[in-house]
Amino acid sequence: MNRNLDLLDPMIMGNETSMYSLFDYLRDSDPVTYVEHPDYEPFWALTRHQDIKFISQNNDRFLNNPRTVLVQQEFEKALLEQFGTRNGLETLIHMDAPKHRKLRGVTREWFKPGPIGNLSGDVQAIAKESVDKMEGLGGECDFVKEISLLYPLRVIMSIIGVAPEEEAMMLKLTQELFGAADPSQSRGTEAGDGLGVLMDFFTYFTALVEDRKSNPRDDLATVLATALVDGEPMEQLDQISYFIIAATAGHDTTSATVGGGMKALMEHPEQLRKLKEHPELCNSAAREMIRWTAPVRHMMRTTTQEEVFQGQSIKAGESLCLWYPAANRDAEVFSNPDVFDIERDNRNQLAFGYGGHMCLGQHLAMLEVELFFRELLPRIQHIEMIENPDWVQAIFVGGLKSMPVRYRF
Ligand code: HEM
Repeated sequence: MNRNLDLLDPMIMGNETSMYSLFDYLRDSDPVTYVEHPDYEPFWALTRHQDIKFISQNNDRFLNNPRTVLVQQEFEKALLEQFGTRNGLETLIHMDAPKHRKLRGVTREWFKPGPIGNLSGDVQAIAKESVDKMEGLGGECDFVKEISLLYPLRVIMSIIGVAPEEEAMMLKLTQELFGAADPSQSRGTEAGDGLGVLMDFFTYFTALVEDRKSNPRDDLATVLATALVDGEPMEQLDQISYFIIAATAGHDTTSATVGGGMKALMEHPEQLRKLKEHPELCNSAAREMIRWTAPVRHMMRTTTQEEVFQGQSIKAGESLCLWYPAANRDAEVFSNPDVFDIERDNRNQLAFGYGGHMCLGQHLAMLEVELFFRELLPRIQHIEMIENPDWVQAIFVGGLKSMPVRYRF
């Protein structure tokens, strides 16, 4: 049987052991493989670092539109009927030049290292609240459910300007969106359930836009509500989609890195010890955690001309799926890729993508991960897992669902 169909199995992809074993096999034996599954339009899956980087940096040759992530055909049809686009949303990841450049420009300044650095006091305060909460929980907690899921949520919601009492609802909607393939997280199995999730986001953010137009504040919601593109207000679909990507891409991914990073430290006690002794390594450790967890499993591109990768020729107009966790464990680029090493040179890791669409929130994500461990490690004496952790079943954004731990401050 062709193992490439496993890429579409949320159980296999939702567990690091089975996912990396599949990627090792594909990268070595079938690095450019054609995937045909009854529920999905066919696509080429690429697992080598060199190919994924090349495709990501040539944005005019490999387009984000019309196919950005893997979505079942039935749901794509429902989205097309409801929103007039098969992606449903029109976020930055769904656009190409010149529109992409203009819309990315709306928040580019906000997410640069300088302005993000100015937020470090606020992020540190939220990191401290999270670690205080962990200490207050006694000596046992579910690190994912009680700590790592909520910390980045608080950060991004405060940046956008969503009230704390509305965060639980935002978390639920994000989990319903990214956990649609996981029965314990999805709203339901019908296409209408997925549409309902998007409609709830729309209703909420439309009201927020109206509020900020009349009551501007110093937050991202006000920037998005009042932005002009070519001298005109943003189209409603573009604007609400912008909110949705900032609100969703901004926390599940970072939560998955903090949770997966904590797990990696517990599984590599010598690295944990080193990091406690050398807190100045927290920045480099954060980057290794991002390489290691690579929570965004894939993005897609469409070819504009005939291409050849690893001897395999691909026609114009075909879909390519770029598997970032596979690239991040490619031994051609990373020595001993399956070793977690907080001092590794990670300049080449691709968990944030690459090229014109490279993650807008990368500096914020790095800051959050770094500051969390800077706060936690000097205060904690011991931490261990007390049960096997559980993973979200997902093929797009994945990570831990639960990780019970025991610890001593
Ligand atoms: C560890 C955490 C994160 C990871 C692993 C991650 C990963 C990614 C990846 C792989 C892409 C696509 C890049 C490409 O196509 O080349 C992306 C795009 C994006 N991310 Fe992140 N992300 C993270 C955190 C964040 C945060 C905190 C935000 C804050 C709002 C954010 C906002 C975005 C946006 C807006 C885009 C679309 C950029 C574009 O298409 O121009 N991400 N991210």
